[in-house]
Amino acid sequence: MQIRTVGVLGCGLMGAGIAQVCAQSGYKTIVREVEDSFLKKGLGRIDKFLTDGVAKGKVAQEVRDKTMANLSGTTRLDELASCDIVVEAIIENVEEKKKSYAALDAVVGADTIFCSNTSSLCITELAATTKRPDRFAGLHFFNPVPIMKLVEVIRGLATADQTYQAVFGFAQSLGKEPITAPDRPGFIVNRLLVPYLLDAIREYESGLGTLEDIDQGMKLGTGYPMGPFTLLDYVGLDTTYYIANIMFEEYREPRFAPPPLLKRMVLAGRLGRKSGRGFYDYSNA
Ligand code: 3HC
Repeated sequence: MQIRTVGVLGCGLMGAGIAQVCAQSGYKTIVREVEDSFLKKGLGRIDKFLTDGVAKGKVAQEVRDKTMANLSGTTRLDELASCDIVVEAIIENVEEKKKSYAALDAVVGADTIFCSNTSSLCITELAATTKRPDRFAGLHFFNPVPIMKLVEVIRGLATADQTYQAVFGFAQSLGKEPITAPDRPGFIVNRLLVPYLLDAIREYESGLGTLEDIDQGMKLGTGYPMGPFTLLDYVGLDTTYYIANIMFEEYREPRFAPPPLLKRMVLAGRLGRKSGRGFYDYSNA
């Protein structure tokens, strides 16, 4: 099938990044947020990334201009009516997603493909809440979306071969390198990454080393771009806690259980970069 127009639901950190790469790859892209202020913030983030990219010599001025011209924002779901594919990147809540899919089902064409950028919810379950489980797949991007090359493509139990192929090809057309991941909590990357991050917290609590030494050790000793605590602050401690709980619920294995310190940091509002404090202090950043 021919994809010309892309809809993106949600213009938060992930939604904005997804909308940017779609528009940058030449698709007419319509991004929808629930409130004008959220939309402005998300579109502003895209503009800033591209403008900074031009200043750094990483993005041509013409590419920036074309990307912004391909992009439009709305608070109305019915403006996504002409979309060939819709990528949903809203809050990780099945009920909220279900409501959005129902409203979308009513306005888009019968062939439109739905994708979810969920990092942990079950694709088969999300697909089953729509009228098009055969035209539904997972499409999981990584933060920061414009820079990270990976996308996980996830087939639900009902995903048609044609849908899977179209979504895989779409991810490639965005300049990404897709892999196929199973419909299991964490897919491939979070399944391996999250237990590593949880283990780092547990070992820090048990006195393995300072935050700085553990981070430096993993960064310089293994070539990871960020040590585990810098990465936890970057991803968000609330997000990690949320994913860990879903994985623990499914697998019931201690390695997926969120450590007490993670829970307490989330309860204290120390969510990482986004709240100004996580394992490190960003209040002056
Ligand atoms: N426009 C265009 N390119 C830009 C840019 C801009 N505005 N800003 C930066 N870039 C480019 C840079 O030029 C550079 O490209 P180069 O390698 O070709 O020179 C590249 O992006 C990296 O940028 P920086 O040099 O500014 O930054 P760093 O080198 O410090 O890298 C980072 C930053 C990419 C975030 C790196 O630290 C990293 O990869 N960290 C790990 C991130 C990670 O693991 N993400 C996944 C998290 S898990 C997840 O998302 C799943 C979810 O479900 C939880």
